[in-house]
Amino acid sequence: MSEINLLDSYPKTARDYDKRAREKTQEIIKLAKQFSRDFFDGDRRCGYGGYKYDGRWRTVVKLIKNFYHLPDNAAILDIGCAKGFMLHDFKELMPQATVAGIDVSEYAIENAMASVKPFLKIASAEKLPYPDKSFDLVISINSIHNLSLERLKISLREIQRVCRGNSYITIDAWRNEQERVNLFKWVLTAETMMHVDEWKKLFAEVGYSGDYWWFIAD
Ligand SMILES: C[S@@+](CC[C@H](N)C(=O)[O-])C[C@H]1O[C@@H](n2cnc3c(N)ncnc32)[C@H](O)[C@@H]1O
Repeated sequence: MSEINLLDSYPKTARDYDKRAREKTQEIIKLAKQFSRDFFDGDRRCGYGGYKYDGRWRTVVKLIKNFYHLPDNAAILDIGCAKGFMLHDFKELMPQATVAGIDVSEYAIENAMASVKPFLKIASAEKLPYPDKSFDLVISINSIHNLSLERLKISLREIQRVCRGNSYITIDAWRNEQERVNLFKWVLTAETMMHVDEWKKLFAEVGYSGDYWWFIAD
């Protein structure tokens, strides 16, 4: 279990925390939490403001493959896969890989990339529709913090259950008061956010033995 940034090459978005806090209404939060068109392809105030493929995961997946010494035919699961962009890049890099993705968003799966759509399912992170030890790599980027604490604990145990190799998750966290304040201004959908040390305690409590990194609002 280690704290490791494998997303360093992922482009950073400029974030105006105060603007987001001013614009955030209960209505916007409600829309965002539906994880539908408004969240992915609607107004920027509701989420991504246009969730489009641009190949930004290419360098990340290369690093992940090398870091975990994944064989070319590895089985890879992405939890909170959205439109399957990262899995598409894994498949381009490793054509023999078996990829799978789940997301609660019917909209995202419906609008997923054609190359990976057949491998994606609508499901929730706390009930993964796969047998024990199915995957060499289970990955989840900025997704499971959308669950309440109790459901999130179940999802971490689910990751442990379906994983036979490595797992890697990133979640909303802070290391100091300023980052905590920024994060609360920024978030639209997350239900569980903690100090990095609290996350580490939680991982130990539920027996999560994979790797992790943070979404930090710095
Ligand atoms: C911030 S987006 C991240 C998407 C993608 N992993 C990425 O990094 O581009 C969060 C994703 O988590 C999904 N999500 C929210 N709750 C979920 C749940 N209970 N189970 C699975 N996915 C969930 C959302 O639909 C959304 O696609």
